[in-house]
Amino acid sequence: MKSKRDLIVLLDFGAQYSQLIARRVRAEQVYCEIVPYNTPAAKIAAMSPKGIIFSGGPASVLDVGSPRCDEAIFDLGVPILGICYGMQLMAHMLHGKVEIPDEREYGQVEVEVKDEGQLLQGLKGRIKTWMSHTLQVSVPPQGFNILATTAHCDCAAFENRERRFYGLQFHPEVTHTPRGKEIFKNFLFNICGCSGDWQMKSYADEAIAAIRQQVGDKQVLLGLSGGVDSSVVATLLHKAVGDQLTAVFVNHGLMRKNEPEEIEAVFRPLLGEKLIMVDASERFLAKLAGVTDPETKRKIIGSEFIEVFAETARSLGRLDFLAQGTIYPDVVESSSATGTVIKSHHNVGGLPKDLPFCGIVEPLRLLFKDEVRELGTELGLPEHMVWRPPFPGPGLAIRIIGDITADKLLIVRESDAILREEIVASGLGREASQYFTVLTGLRSVGVMGDERSYDYTIAIRAVNTDDFMTADWLKIPYDILDKISRRIVNEVRHVNRVVYDITSKPPASIEWE
Ligand code: XMP
Repeated sequence: MKSKRDLIVLLDFGAQYSQLIARRVRAEQVYCEIVPYNTPAAKIAAMSPKGIIFSGGPASVLDVGSPRCDEAIFDLGVPILGICYGMQLMAHMLHGKVEIPDEREYGQVEVEVKDEGQLLQGLKGRIKTWMSHTLQVSVPPQGFNILATTAHCDCAAFENRERRFYGLQFHPEVTHTPRGKEIFKNFLFNICGCSGDWQMKSYADEAIAAIRQQVGDKQVLLGLSGGVDSSVVATLLHKAVGDQLTAVFVNHGLMRKNEPEEIEAVFRPLLGEKLIMVDASERFLAKLAGVTDPETKRKIIGSEFIEVFAETARSLGRLDFLAQGTIYPDVVESSSATGTVIKSHHNVGGLPKDLPFCGIVEPLRLLFKDEVRELGTELGLPEHMVWRPPFPGPGLAIRIIGDITADKLLIVRESDAILREEIVASGLGREASQYFTVLTGLRSVGVMGDERSYDYTIAIRAVNTDDFMTADWLKIPYDILDKISRRIVNEVRHVNRVVYDITSKPPASIEWE
């Protein structure tokens, strides 16, 4: 996507915080793009960045084979900010000295700003920072001034004003460095001269223009799930190419109560006949009969989904482009080495080869989740859709422990609807990142009237999280829990017990399967 906006290029040396750096920059309304550490200087120059940031990273610059940037980057005349590994690399490549310190600094560390320079303008004195490093700069390269020190490190920040090179031993991007925002502002506005005018409105206009250019007069097919990402893609594409867009919603019968209807209510007026609702619930239920293993459930649902989608696509005749709601973290994660797969989250794998798409349209591939939401609001999508908590692709199937039947689906769907109603009514909706009920495989004894019952236990799960990698259970007030529990046992047949899951992630995961 071409434009005249200011750009900061972030060289990724494998830091766990790279995405966070990009988000901090974008939060200042300056567009930031992450590129691999070994991107050639010429390629970076062609992007015309206003500034370059070197991320941190787990390697040691003293090790042979540790990641290096193209040396010519230092001759581009563009300001560079190195963070942690990035600073050490800058020092190392420009002939300063980097060493293993006597004392390793990790966690909250106080930094004394001795000389504000340009980078630490307005921060004189002591500031709280977050450190995580095994090496440090002991002698800065020629032409660099030391700006700050710590009890164990004589060079916690440096700058070469003439060449506009800057380095920080600590991480300004994490919340544990409370004044990090000011440092970014100094770099972006005072040093790089960015104007901070990157807005969602301009992103939307650019994205629409780019889609028009890519698609021309051809046809686009989109799998619409009702989640934020695909809903935003549908709206954007519709604005860009109108009725050249066909959206297919595959109802696998594992959706929450009223969900297919709500999706239809939003998109039918927009897409008319070009919205195709496929009810494949019977088919999915038949395939899932008797299956208890969570990963097998996921695989069956994933491949069945592709089959239904592909069958529908074939029946539609001419198709040129496939649109997808890929977002930035997917792109970045899949291009770096990822860890062990704990749960297979990717539900839509490859489509059959006989579907003759000539290209893929991914208008969100440069956006973070919160930016996708902002874009959705900008495009006028209803609030409930924009703020919809994530719902897993395999849907309620992984919220029923054990095998799936129509009766069990009804139980989990109804109890979930009650929970959602009460959470929203209590005003906790925005506070909770995700909340749902689980039909545990457990049955237990109860008393209903004068009779003994032997029925199911429903578990409530509600969590707070920033990134879904770790999560805390939500402290729902007792009176609300009480109301939810009473309503579930009274209104949902075959439930005689409700429990609240008070485990954080880790060790538990958010979903039960
Ligand atoms: P876990 O259970 O791994 O969940 O702590 C983290 C987030 O991922 C969602 N999740 C899934 N999403 N397909 C998806 O699209 C899946 O198979 C899947 N499993 C978990 C979960 O809802 C939570 O938001």
